[in-house]
Amino acid sequence: MKGVVLAGGLGSRLHPLTKVTNKHLLPIYNKPMIYYPIETLVEAGIRDIMIVTGGKNAGDFLRLLGNGKEFGLAHLNYTYQEGEGGIAAALSLAEFFADGQPICVILGDNIIEGSIRRYVENFKKQGGGARILLKEVDDPGRFGVPAIQGDRIIRIDEKPKLPASRYAVTGIYMYDEEVFGFIQDLKPSDRGELEITDVNNAYIERGRMQYDVLEGWWTDAGTFESLLRASNLVSQNAQRSD
Ligand code: G1P
Repeated sequence: MKGVVLAGGLGSRLHPLTKVTNKHLLPIYNKPMIYYPIETLVEAGIRDIMIVTGGKNAGDFLRLLGNGKEFGLAHLNYTYQEGEGGIAAALSLAEFFADGQPICVILGDNIIEGSIRRYVENFKKQGGGARILLKEVDDPGRFGVPAIQGDRIIRIDEKPKLPASRYAVTGIYMYDEEVFGFIQDLKPSDRGELEITDVNNAYIERGRMQYDVLEGWWTDAGTFESLLRASNLVSQNAQRSD
């Protein structure tokens, strides 16, 4: 399985922090944000990784990460997103890299406490389709929210006013090679983006989506509050393991 880290976007919710740099290069406790999702993939045994970025700071990723030596990797792949188009548009740039293999996609601002290894193993066993990770949160309306019936997700609503459950769809997604066909068929949402939620709904409509509930804490880091929370959670972990 290959890994894709999505690290583009304007980070406009973090202005002025993101005026002269990319959100994913901002510090979370003692490391740049993008270190964490890369470490999550590597820890799960995924060693063939592509970074998708864009904007004026793309070169900084190469200077920071190089060939991935700090993560124990021999090589890192990069691609460049021109303009803005949403998470699914960024992911479409990884089609050539994926080369027909299954992929584990992680948003560059998603930070977790534990390991995704067992969920990756579950995906390998399920025989194609897609697998997402859910986490119970206090503020589901900020995220993609699944409507669940029995043990199946029947729909995901993106940032709903009336959330159908207390779960957020985390930014960790596993897909088979069909994902790129689904992205091609997408229409931009009201906010003008190709939504990853629409990709996930395409799998759900075909009965090809499964999920796990993520153990340990999870946070994004795209707002001032969540950026601070991410640093606090990581620092608490570091102190515990000292
Ligand atoms: C994105 C997705 C959303 C998901 C979230 C996880 O939201 O659109 O479905 O729950 O990432 O971090 P955004 O960060 O663009 O608000």
